[in-house]
Amino acid sequence: MDIEKISNSFLGKLNPRFVTWIFKYLKGVPAVRRRVEKEFDALMKDIEKQVKPYKSRFSTYTGIPEKGIGREDIIREMEALNSLEESRWKDGFASGAVYHGDEEHIQFLNRVYGLNSQANPLHSDLWPSTSKYEAEVVSMTAEMLGAGKRKASGGPGNEICGVVSSGGTESILLAMKTYRDWARDRKGITRPEMVVPVTAHAAFDKAAQYFNINIKHIPVTEDCRADVEAARRAITRNTIVLVGSAPSFPHGTVDPIARLSELARQRNIGFHTDACLGGFVLPWAERLGYSVPPFDFRLPGVTSISADTHKYGYAAKGTSVILYRGLELRRYQYFKATDWPGGLYFSPTFAGSRPGALSAACWAAMLSVGQEGYLKATKRILETGAKIKRAIGDMEDVHVLGEPLWVIAFGSKTLDIYRIMDQMTGKHWSLNGLHKPSCVHLCITLRHTQSGVAERFISDLKSAVQFVKENPEEKGGMAPVYGLAATLPVRSIVGDLLERYMDALYKV
Ligand SMILES: Cc1ncc(COP(=O)(O)O)c(C=O)c1O
Repeated sequence: MDIEKISNSFLGKLNPRFVTWIFKYLKGVPAVRRRVEKEFDALMKDIEKQVKPYKSRFSTYTGIPEKGIGREDIIREMEALNSLEESRWKDGFASGAVYHGDEEHIQFLNRVYGLNSQANPLHSDLWPSTSKYEAEVVSMTAEMLGAGKRKASGGPGNEICGVVSSGGTESILLAMKTYRDWARDRKGITRPEMVVPVTAHAAFDKAAQYFNINIKHIPVTEDCRADVEAARRAITRNTIVLVGSAPSFPHGTVDPIARLSELARQRNIGFHTDACLGGFVLPWAERLGYSVPPFDFRLPGVTSISADTHKYGYAAKGTSVILYRGLELRRYQYFKATDWPGGLYFSPTFAGSRPGALSAACWAAMLSVGQEGYLKATKRILETGAKIKRAIGDMEDVHVLGEPLWVIAFGSKTLDIYRIMDQMTGKHWSLNGLHKPSCVHLCITLRHTQSGVAERFISDLKSAVQFVKENPEEKGGMAPVYGLAATLPVRSIVGDLLERYMDALYKV
């Protein structure tokens, strides 16, 4: 691959920032730009086929049809599309993605959505029911995450509060914006910095970009957990917040939140626990007797937590909760316009109008699952996680990273892990390819606790490893793309490719 050659030449030996700068300059030279574009076009041809598989089988609409199409015809077409996609996630071939997925649960959420499809929390006078649902979702989540169990740090002005957002990313963006505005107002910090483990979700980088906050990444130790000493060294007078994950997306490991949050408390900065993935698992795991390190509001230094209801809260897609210690902090999140000719305007989150039906479905999911349901679900997930982790640990040529409970990342010292992932894709699996270090993960959900799914995963993985071992030279699939993306020293080329990928998603 020529891009690979260009990038891995002498450029690979230089400082990556310098290389990116040189490459930006080189791309301005017409001959180089043409060459790079040609390479991209060739790569994108295959990728476009993958992201638009329905072109030849279904009608394409590039403009609004002159006359409306019959509702039943539309439903039929959507059912046909659905049937092509449903079995992969329903039968447990996907990592994460759908966290509950039982038919009765889905039908229940759909009914709740139908009842509330017109509701909009922006009009709280028309739909006070939505405000009730959201307040109770926040309260139930806060109680689960230690709000009711705090000792020394409780009391007036310190109560745990929050809002419902559209997902984990929005919860994180809101929290980082809140810390920026709080630090500017209360501490006069005008060049804010956040200290974030490299394994924290990319949403923190997005927040840094959107809100002009300097992000300082800190490394993780051998066990894939944030390095506390590196965090201590990274904090400066401009630091507004320190972050830890419970657990992290890549390796499913819980950072040393007790030590990190104490460090933040001593330095009088915010501490955010990203429990988007674990917020609705770890509390129940603890009650089941698993060894769960402290991560929630019982730690006095934890000042905010993100927890995703649309993951292990088993709500429909599109909700998450962001919690704060103290009403004062939450107020820095709010937007208000007092002089707009459109009237007095305020909104607690980024959006204006919002789907009240999703908040209603979230409330209904939490009530119908109940503590008993969450305990049972967590038990099934963690037992499946333990089975899969044990099986990978017993295999030759692959190893588990860190000490995860239910997000199991595995790599290989002897084989190309992305070729193993390709083999798994060939057997219908949709796993997550990760890098730095190169590995793959399976995020276990209730779909994998169905009878025979874990066994199928283990046996498919064994044969995938065996195949790659016996056919070390075979090329093709996505492995070269993943390999390239993981190792290219010119990171801006990878960024350019991702832009092309997003363009492809919007092609009709
Ligand atoms: C730890 C963690 N944080 C944040 C997010 C972002 O959540 P969302 O995709 O809902 O925006 C994820 C998503 O997987 C996650 O695993």
